[in-house]
Amino acid sequence: MRLPKRVKIVEVGPRDGLQNETKTVPTPVKIELINRLSQTGLAAIEGGSFVSPKWIPQMADSLQVMQGVKRRPGVSYPVLVPNLQGLRSALLADCDEIAIFASASESFSRKNINCSIAQSLDRFAEVCAEAKKHNLRVRGYISCTLGCPYEGWIDPNSVAWLAGRLVELGCYEISLGDTIGVGTPGKAQAMVDCVAGKVQPERLAAHFHDTYGQALANILAVMQRGIAVIDSSVSGLGGCTFAPGATGNVATEDLLYMLKGLGVESGVDLNEVVAVGEFISGYLGRTSNSRVARAILSQKTEQCSNQ
Ligand code: HMG
Ligand code: MG
Repeated sequence: MRLPKRVKIVEVGPRDGLQNETKTVPTPVKIELINRLSQTGLAAIEGGSFVSPKWIPQMADSLQVMQGVKRRPGVSYPVLVPNLQGLRSALLADCDEIAIFASASESFSRKNINCSIAQSLDRFAEVCAEAKKHNLRVRGYISCTLGCPYEGWIDPNSVAWLAGRLVELGCYEISLGDTIGVGTPGKAQAMVDCVAGKVQPERLAAHFHDTYGQALANILAVMQRGIAVIDSSVSGLGGCTFAPGATGNVATEDLLYMLKGLGVESGVDLNEVVAVGEFISGYLGRTSNSRVARAILSQKTEQCSNQ
C-alpha cells in the first residue's frame, strides 16, 4: 500500500467542533481548549470563524478567542471568513491564515452562506485579493464533495471545477469536505481522482465527517491517492447547522491511532490529545465520540482500580 510518510493534521475542533453546540461554550473554555491543543504537536488549529453571529451564535466571540489564545510559534491558527466583513475581523484579531468556504452544491451554498456558488466566488475573489495585500495565507474549503443534504449525489466534475477556481483565486490548499459523512472509500477515491485533474493531490486535504462511520476508511483511501493533509476534530466533536443530521469530523484520536499503526508520522502526541478530549468532553458533559479515546481512558481506569 503506497502512503505518504508524513501527514499534517489540521485540528478543526475549536471551530467545526463547537459551532453547532447547543450549550454556549464560554470564551475562556475555548481559549483553554486551543492552548491545550497547541501543546500536542499539532501544526494547525482552526480557532474560530468570523461569520454572522445571528447565523452561528457559538462563534460570536471568535475575536476575543483569537486575541486570548497564546499562539505557539510554528502553529497556524486559521479562521473561517465568508466575506470582507469577516476578513476585517480576522485582521483585527491578527490572524495569520484564513479559510474561505464554498460548496459544490448550489442548495447548500444558499443555505450555508445565503448566496449562489457564483456569487460566493465573487465574494471570495474580493476576500483573496485583500488577504494577499496583508500577506494572509488562504485555505479553501469545498463542502458537499461526496453528497449534499438537499441535492443528494454531487458530480465530482463540479468539485474539480470549483477546486480549480479556488486555486486560481489564491488558495494554497483545498480541503474537500464530506459535510454529511455519506462517502465511501471508492467514491472518495473517484472524487479525488477527478479533482486531481485540476489540482494536484499535494495541494488537497480531506475533511471528512463521520456520520456513517466511514471517515477513517475514506481517509485511508484518499491517502493512497497522495493526500497528506487531514482535518480532524478532538473527540470527534462537530457538525454544521445547515447540514441536518451530520455528526462531527473524524476524531483526531482515532486518526492518530490509525496513522501510528500504519507507521505514518504526524508529530502529534496521541495521549496528549486524549487528555485534551477528556477536558472538552468533560466540560460539555458527554462521553467522547472517539472510540480510541474511550478505549485508552477505560484502560487507565482499570489500571487505577487494580492498584
Ligand atoms: P447575510 O445575511 O446574507 O449577509 O449572511 P448580509 O451581508 O446581508 O448581512 C446581514 C447581517 O449579517 C448584517 O448584520 C451584517 O453585519 C452581518 P445586521 O445589519 O443584520 O445586524 N454579517 C456579519 N457579521 C459578522 N461577520 C461577518 C458578517 N457578514 C455579515 N462576516 C453570511 C451572509 C455568510 C455572513 C451568513 O450566511 C453566515 O454567517 N453564514 C454562516 C456560515 C457558517 O459559518 N457555516 C458553518 C461553517 S461552514 C462548515 O461548517 C463546512 C466546513 O466545515 C466544511 C465541510 O464540512 O463541508 C467548512
Ligand atoms: Mg466541516
